[in-house]
Amino acid sequence: MIQFLLNDRLITERELDPNLTVLNYLRGQQQRRGTKEGCASGDCGACTVTLGKVVDGEMQYQAVNSCLTLVSSLQGKQLITVEDLKQGRELHSVQQAMVDCHGSQCGYCTPGFVMSLFTLQKNSVGWDRHQAEQALAGNLCRCTGYRPI
Ligand code: FES
Ligand code: FES
Repeated sequence: MIQFLLNDRLITERELDPNLTVLNYLRGQQQRRGTKEGCASGDCGACTVTLGKVVDGEMQYQAVNSCLTLVSSLQGKQLITVEDLKQGRELHSVQQAMVDCHGSQCGYCTPGFVMSLFTLQKNSVGWDRHQAEQALAGNLCRCTGYRPI
């Protein structure tokens, strides 16, 4: 049995194959298809999600490739996906910035970029361009040429 938070909802899974990837779990069992499969081998970042865990009494967040992460590793953690960011009709500030700066074309990579920047924002009070570039080092885009992003 594993227990974890899917954003703010407690999930208890008793019969999952522990070798199932988080990517396939989200898309197949949770109907959360905002998380994309690009390479399925940890190279493109299209499948990026945010994992939170308690460290020394505080939540710390990490952007991970869900295609390489097994559901068994979710035990006791918080899993946040791109579906959790929008509040009502209001986009998260990272999503809004992607819209305002024309940072998305075909959109396939966009949830991954958004989740990498969201994770950076969750961990930092303030962040600069260099940190943003570091945070996006694992995200590939075939369309934008990166400048708008
Ligand atoms: S699908 Fe490319 S890194 Fe996961
Ligand atoms: S917008 Fe098409 S791959 Fe990035």
